[in-house]
Amino acid sequence: MIEFRHVYKTYPGPVHALKNVEFSIGKGEFVFLTGPSGAGKTTLFRMLSAFDRPTSGKVQVGDFDLDRLDAQSLPHFRRKIGIVFQDFRLLRDRSVFENVSLPLRVKEERAHLIARKVDEALAWVGLTSKAEFSPAVLSGGEQQRVAIARALVHQPGLLIADEPTGNLDPDMSEGIMDLMERVCAQGTTVFVATHDHAMVERRKKRTIQIKEGAVVGDSSVGGEAATGMI
Ligand SMILES: Nc1ncnc2c1ncn2[C@@H]1O[C@H](COP(=O)(O)OP(=O)(O)OP(=O)(O)O)[C@@H](O)[C@H]1O
Ligand SMILES: [Mg+2]
Repeated sequence: MIEFRHVYKTYPGPVHALKNVEFSIGKGEFVFLTGPSGAGKTTLFRMLSAFDRPTSGKVQVGDFDLDRLDAQSLPHFRRKIGIVFQDFRLLRDRSVFENVSLPLRVKEERAHLIARKVDEALAWVGLTSKAEFSPAVLSGGEQQRVAIARALVHQPGLLIADEPTGNLDPDMSEGIMDLMERVCAQGTTVFVATHDHAMVERRKKRTIQIKEGAVVGDSSVGGEAATGMI
């Protein structure tokens, strides 16, 4: 489903934000991405969501070659994924309901279907009562949950979530991770960047670690080595 091959990203400076990143993730997998602040997690997700292109290397998601995606294919690709941005990126002049409905509107779904799916998604994140509010008056954790509902409302094939529990209390974080596991069990590939080591420990999922732009650990690789060919 996801392939990174020899991916480098260099920002002016130069800042070598990604260095020879290589991994693949299968359809329906649940994977954590961990690494210290500045390691390159958000940069990696920018490549994976086609917000930016690698300086060199190959990024493939399903049938889409993201390192050479043309402008016409971009909206088709985006409709298949859900993204929770580290900084939420909600529209402050629209209501919570309207924000969450956006991925359905671009698919030109019917109004009654949109209403039902948005209500459902808001219920998943416990925000039914805030549907008509502006995100501007919500707490940081509530805004983060709106962003999660928006990323999931159209049942994407791939969910990319950058620190989705960074603003949530421990109980809410657990609830959101349970939700993501349920979504994964229904077939969505889930890739979550997090600093929360305790949560990663508890969930026992594949974990890719990056440091200074390079992959320094992948628990699935270790797992294979530990169990294979004995
Ligand atoms: N547009 C840019 N121009 C120059 N340098 C950048 C740019 N974007 C990111 N960087 C640098 O690339 C490196 C990786 O940044 P990135 O945001 O990917 O880290 P991160 O792992 O997401 O960190 P955090 O955990 O704090 O969110 C950092 O050194 C950062 O300063
Ligand atoms: Mg980041």
